[in-house]
Amino acid sequence: MKTGISVFVATFVALGASWCGFVLAPLLQLGGAKQTVVLQTTDNWPLQRTGAATLGLQVYRANGCAACHTELVRQTGVAFEVLLTSAGNNPAAVSNLISNLKLAGLTKEEADDANAKITAIGGKVETRLTATGADIARGWGLRQSVAADYLYDQPVQLGSLRAGPDLANIGVRAPDLNWQLLHLYAPKAVNPNSTMPSFKFLFEVRKIGNAPAPDALHLPKEFAAADGYEIVPKPEAIELAAYLLSLKANQPLYEAPFSPVTAAK
Ligand code: HEC
Repeated sequence: MKTGISVFVATFVALGASWCGFVLAPLLQLGGAKQTVVLQTTDNWPLQRTGAATLGLQVYRANGCAACHTELVRQTGVAFEVLLTSAGNNPAAVSNLISNLKLAGLTKEEADDANAKITAIGGKVETRLTATGADIARGWGLRQSVAADYLYDQPVQLGSLRAGPDLANIGVRAPDLNWQLLHLYAPKAVNPNSTMPSFKFLFEVRKIGNAPAPDALHLPKEFAAADGYEIVPKPEAIELAAYLLSLKANQPLYEAPFSPVTAAK
């Protein structure tokens, strides 16, 4: 009987400790996550997805898109860049100094140092912060994904395998609804080397009535329907495309800062 109790206690402690580690700790850390604000603005982040995009998340899930795509941008660090905004009264000296200085890919100390040197002779500079890492170099995002990005997603579709590109920012990269629909119907129609399966069953082949439907796909000849027929997205396809367009994690946040790209003057 003595061993029975110790086995029970040992099991209880082992399972209890892993429950605390895998369930309780993340809940305490992130369970209270709330909408936050975009850095240096009063805009809220994230915003609730539209109705169609919220339904589209379920289509994404039902079709197993997360088996081949992640929605998570990783970041390994940050780098600073010093930009000259005005050469002041002594442009020759400033340009001479700048030609001998490293101005991109700096650490905070190096950036402060360059900043001090340039301002000392009258130039004006702006220091920019950029996120670095392989995912960011691939153009998949401007910063890492953070818990707040998924606040309104139920369930979160993180994915773990990247047979295709990360989609955390596909709404920024490919913002055209027609492109998204065309790609879902026939990935090879927009990317001849694509190995992504076609999701034809999200579309309907219909006989053309008096006139083609306004939302019928404009497909290249080899993918088009037979003469007199057209290919029209079903509601699921429209919802899925709306969800893809809503995938944007491109605002600087307190926990994932970067300097937004300002429009060229
Ligand atoms: C068997 C793996 C696989 C599955 C399942 C899959 N994809 Fe893909 N996907 C790919 C590959 C590979 C590419 C890259 C080639 C291309 O652009 O077509 C890709 C590309 C994409 C792109 C373009 C990305 C870019 O950066 O241009 C989007 C959008 C996309 N997939 C959405 C989806 C959606 C939505 C689903 C679910 C309905 C899905 N994929 C299911 C493999 C897959």
